[in-house]
Amino acid sequence: MSQALYRKWRPGLWDQVVGQEHIIQTLQNAIRSNRVGHAYLFAGPRGTGKTTTARLLAKAVNCLAEDPAQRPCNQCTNCLSVNQGNFLDLIEIDAASNTSVDDIRDLRDKINFSPSFGKFKVYIIDEVHMLSTAAFNALLKTLEEPPAHAIFILATTEVHKIPATVLSRCQRHEFRRIPVNDIVNYLNEIISGEGLQADPDALVLIARQSTGCMRDAISLLDQLSSTGEKITLSITQSVLGTATHQSVINLTESILNGDTAAGLNSIHQAMDGGTDPRQFARQVVEYLRGLLLIQMGSADQIDATSEQHAQMSVHAGQFERAQLLNALQLFNNAVIENRGTWQPGLLLELALAESIQKPFSAAVAGFERQVVATALPERQTVATSQQVQTAPAQGIVSPARSAPEKEPTAVSQTPPVAAEQAAPRQAPPASAAITSPPAQNASAKGVELDDILRVWGQIRTVIKKRSPQTEALLNSCHPLALKDGMLVLGFASDVVKSKMESNENKDLTSQAIFHILGVNLNIQCTVGSKVVTDTSTLGIEGGGLVSTALNLGGKIVTKKKSSNS
Ligand SMILES: Nc1ncnc2c1ncn2[C@@H]1O[C@H](COP(=O)(O)OP(=O)(O)O)[C@@H](O)[C@H]1O
Ligand SMILES: [Mg+2]
Ligand SMILES: [Zn+2]
Repeated sequence: MSQALYRKWRPGLWDQVVGQEHIIQTLQNAIRSNRVGHAYLFAGPRGTGKTTTARLLAKAVNCLAEDPAQRPCNQCTNCLSVNQGNFLDLIEIDAASNTSVDDIRDLRDKINFSPSFGKFKVYIIDEVHMLSTAAFNALLKTLEEPPAHAIFILATTEVHKIPATVLSRCQRHEFRRIPVNDIVNYLNEIISGEGLQADPDALVLIARQSTGCMRDAISLLDQLSSTGEKITLSITQSVLGTATHQSVINLTESILNGDTAAGLNSIHQAMDGGTDPRQFARQVVEYLRGLLLIQMGSADQIDATSEQHAQMSVHAGQFERAQLLNALQLFNNAVIENRGTWQPGLLLELALAESIQKPFSAAVAGFERQVVATALPERQTVATSQQVQTAPAQGIVSPARSAPEKEPTAVSQTPPVAAEQAAPRQAPPASAAITSPPAQNASAKGVELDDILRVWGQIRTVIKKRSPQTEALLNSCHPLALKDGMLVLGFASDVVKSKMESNENKDLTSQAIFHILGVNLNIQCTVGSKVVTDTSTLGIEGGGLVSTALNLGGKIVTKKKSSNS
């Protein structure tokens, strides 16, 4: 078999090392001024040039070129023999397989012999963090008083595992991940050097996938070039498992076109191709998020090839913001909730169906009816339309319940729960569907009552998974106002209100809201199905429920202040 590309293309001169200019400059200066240290530590991710640079340094200190600025020359016998891997004064130790203290003692005993061919004996200890404590101690003795002819170069990917005593003896250099552009340029050099052909976009994709690791990038190129054909973007995508990308694009288009059948088709296509549903949902989220970033004017934050970028800009221009946000949330939920589902593709299908359903019409109609119907004693309008919207989801959620109901009377008031009580009780699933709100990201900024109303059905679906009882209590309530991180829920009766007021129920609701909208809200319960007109109490402002409804032609029928107990 021919030599692996990444070995063949190991930089043999300083200026061939890519992306580590800060280190190369320092080492080159040391060589020029003849002030090379006795112990170095090269730290950084794998495949970024640590071993390469260590060998360059070993070569440079032993190079026979007259002018120190020309070292390594890559032409003298010493340079050539380092390149061929048979230079006797370069000793490479892989700590991953030589961790015994005896090995290090052996090294210590031999180190006092003068170099055979060069000026310096250079020891490269790779993966030095793998050494045992005893071996480290033995090494430390050597590092404390190295003979003048010895140079140590320790390399590690895990610098935090190196004892401070060792660190303090070494000149330390941090290798960084290599930027995508530098990798692409290097790959281009290899392409022309090897007489290969590749699409520029394919190289960018390879570079991105290798996350700053040049060795991985070259190995990928090697693998892709082995067929002898031109390396195209689509071949690269399929080899890297990013072929589902086209399905994501198709799915997005079907949402834009309101074409459920086509959307289902793209989902099934991806599943049939062996894509994991959760992974697929993640890719959809990533893509939609990209569209959102473009809409918000942050296109530069997107990792994509120029071809993808153009595609995304078109889609971003076609999406209404509200629908985009809605779809983003729905597919994000599919990522999170897919854990315990027996039919993993189903949540994707539901997310698709809900994304296509006009996200606005239901909620807006709800506002309108809510205000117009304020005189009626029972108002189920909003809840009803939301229930219709989320009906399919309720059919598939696992009937998990949390703490047992304390007062059975509540159950009889809420028929849906009573029906479910017949089913055997189950423990909550190990992987709770609701994520706890992290401390950061806790501001309610940017979320308005309209947002709550729009996803109220989803919020309840999430709550129902954890506690059908809580969800049933919410059945008779309406989100009335949102101000200063406080969501006010209006209940039809005092009994239901006071039951809902337990910390457990309120927390569950807050968590579900966080789960869907990513904000932390406190919950306040009040009795009253009337829309409150005292805006100073409940903070109904422009853009809120009342003003929106009024703008839609709603009328305030009664004026009554709610009791904010
Ligand atoms: N900074 C770099 N510039 C150019 N090529 C690199 C660089 N880093 C790694 N490579 C390529 O990857 C291969 C492995 O690099 P190596 O120095 O052994 O990485 P490390 O020791 O950091 O894991 C090299 O042979 C070379 O082809
Ligand atoms: Mg290495
Ligand atoms: Zn030389």
